[in-house]
Amino acid sequence: MDTLNVVLVGALLLSFPILLTMHKAAAKLQRPIIKDSPEILEPITASFDGQLPSWMNGTLFRIGPGKFNIKRNDGSYMHIRHAFDGMPYMHRLVFSAEKNKVDYNSRNLSKEIDRKLTEDPNYEPVFFGHHHDAATNLFVKLLRAYRRLRSMNIPIENRDPNDAMVGVTPTPNFPINEKHFSDVHKVGDKVLVSKTDANMLQLLDAESLEPKKLFSYTTLIPEVKGQMSAAHHQTCPSTNELFNIVLSLGQTTSIKVISLSPDGKGTQYGEVKKRLHDGSPINPPYIHSFPLTKNYVVIPEYPLYFGGKGLPFIMEGNIEAAFRWDDKAKTYFHIISREKKEHVATIEADPAFSFHMGNAWETENGIEFECCVFPDGDIVQQLYSFGSPLRKSQAKTYAMKEASLTSNKINGIRNPPIRQPSFGNLRRYTISFNDIAQGSGKVSARDIASNLEFPRFNAKYTSKPSRYIWGCALETATVEQNETYDIVKVDTDTGDIRRYHRPGYACSEPIFVPKPGSNDEDDGVIVALANEFGEEEEMVDRSHVVVLDGKTLEELGKAAIGDFTPVTFHGSFVDKDFANVSIN
Ligand SMILES: *[C@@H]1O[C@H](CO)[C@@H](O)[C@H](O)[C@H]1NC(C)=O
Ligand SMILES: *[C@@H]1O[C@H](CO)[C@@H](O)[C@H](O)[C@H]1NC(C)=O
Ligand SMILES: *[C@@H]1O[C@H](CO)[C@@H](O)[C@H](O)[C@H]1NC(C)=O
Ligand SMILES: *[C@@H]1O[C@H](CO)[C@@H](O)[C@H](O)[C@H]1NC(C)=O
Ligand SMILES: [Fe+2]
Repeated sequence: MDTLNVVLVGALLLSFPILLTMHKAAAKLQRPIIKDSPEILEPITASFDGQLPSWMNGTLFRIGPGKFNIKRNDGSYMHIRHAFDGMPYMHRLVFSAEKNKVDYNSRNLSKEIDRKLTEDPNYEPVFFGHHHDAATNLFVKLLRAYRRLRSMNIPIENRDPNDAMVGVTPTPNFPINEKHFSDVHKVGDKVLVSKTDANMLQLLDAESLEPKKLFSYTTLIPEVKGQMSAAHHQTCPSTNELFNIVLSLGQTTSIKVISLSPDGKGTQYGEVKKRLHDGSPINPPYIHSFPLTKNYVVIPEYPLYFGGKGLPFIMEGNIEAAFRWDDKAKTYFHIISREKKEHVATIEADPAFSFHMGNAWETENGIEFECCVFPDGDIVQQLYSFGSPLRKSQAKTYAMKEASLTSNKINGIRNPPIRQPSFGNLRRYTISFNDIAQGSGKVSARDIASNLEFPRFNAKYTSKPSRYIWGCALETATVEQNETYDIVKVDTDTGDIRRYHRPGYACSEPIFVPKPGSNDEDDGVIVALANEFGEEEEMVDRSHVVVLDGKTLEELGKAAIGDFTPVTFHGSFVDKDFANVSIN
């Protein structure tokens, strides 16, 4: 046994008592099978039904899980029934105004995971919420946990580039330092990177989408180590630095704020370990995104955190098992000064959880930022259905089955969950400079709209006050209607809402592409994928890319991509010269 083995086995034995008490799985409704999407390696052309604006050239990348059903070599199937856990696909859509068409290709980014799942029934990677087979045999469980730990300790740069599931945000022009990638990347090649909530990044070919290398923030800044990062970075429009966090679990939780300059040079911007108002240690929070302004980085510590120092990940092979909601805790916003490169204040807010930020900026009095908030941690158990809307024909039976389930709070989170009835509220938080100067204080908050997720804004307004947010709204299924995700535009000054609704459409996050040369905040178009689901499960479902007028949300047209419905979380748009337009 090498030293690594000794350390790993030691860690597992120490965790034995936790392991024995941990697995309190609740009875669940049988979740439906999610359909697979094909991988389309050679671009296909979809003609645009309608007229693309004359300036609309560029590429939309979207990413999300595409393959959910794995046929094993022994003929059995492994069905992944959690929307977050399918094998990630990258989708590439190239718009040409002149030809009024869209070219489309896609790629399965985790072929090595796919292969191992096919060949080895004992192979279990870490999923988000997919419970594969809760092994009842303690020995099998320990063995699997050991193998997971062991594979997590292989330097990521040495792994097969397809041996990870990195599928939440697509980031063109990610600032890599080319010296780390000379084996796979030529200076001047276009850069496309996929990101997730782990400290794990995947460099892809920007056209064929083929994975070229796995790496992490630690590859670029070796002194910054940790398991988690935010799937959503921020880029400062004045310095072009990319900011993110690296969270390390374990005995003491630490959150390091880092930046990468456009040439990939790393800087550390201070660390959050304690709440400054009372000196108590932070819990390891789940951070999916965070606000950045000209002078500050705001690190949210929501009452949703990883329990057991993160050990349940390893034991259960899924992240959901580690989540805890502390209903007595508050939200703390930890303020990092970019000038001092130091944690300078901890500001309290009511308990809430947010995945996604809108814009953030500074006024004379303080920091303002927008985000979509859920009132508690129940959302993390509800995510399984994301992107697979309930069909009209299923609504009644589903409601009856759900009504017959009893659920409890397990680790503070309702389990089994009820189906997500709505998205959260669009909230604007204000943190005053006075409180920051004093090191502590309370936010003020104002809810602008309800039922909003995937907030996007005109990226030219990043770090400046902006008025419009485009996002998705969830309409639940009834006996009269299909469940839909609509696209909405919120005027944050007046609260007015415009809506794009089509009876069977699940629209993805709307990306705003401004009209070149225009300074009008909402002058441009919205691009989104829209999956159209039939009323019955047996029907052919299909995917479209829709283009809407940014001001009115009128449909300018759409192109049919194919008879499949890829789930995508996020997208980024670059112009015809591959320059940033709207980047996630
Ligand atoms: C997009 O393509 C059309 C047709 O080639 C061209 O006229 C237009 O200038 C292009 N727009 C941009 C922003 O490149
Ligand atoms: C990746 O996905 C495609 C499309 O579903 C599938 O054909 C392929 O088998 C997958 N995995 C591998 C290892 O190629
Ligand atoms: C483009 O966006 C990436 C990712 O946000 C960023 O790192 C890069 O600096 C940006 N480039 C420019 C020229 O703004
Ligand atoms: C549900 O969606 C399908 C697919 O778009 C559509 O054909 C059907 O009319 C919708 N049903 C209702 C009641 O709106
Ligand atoms: Fe996200």
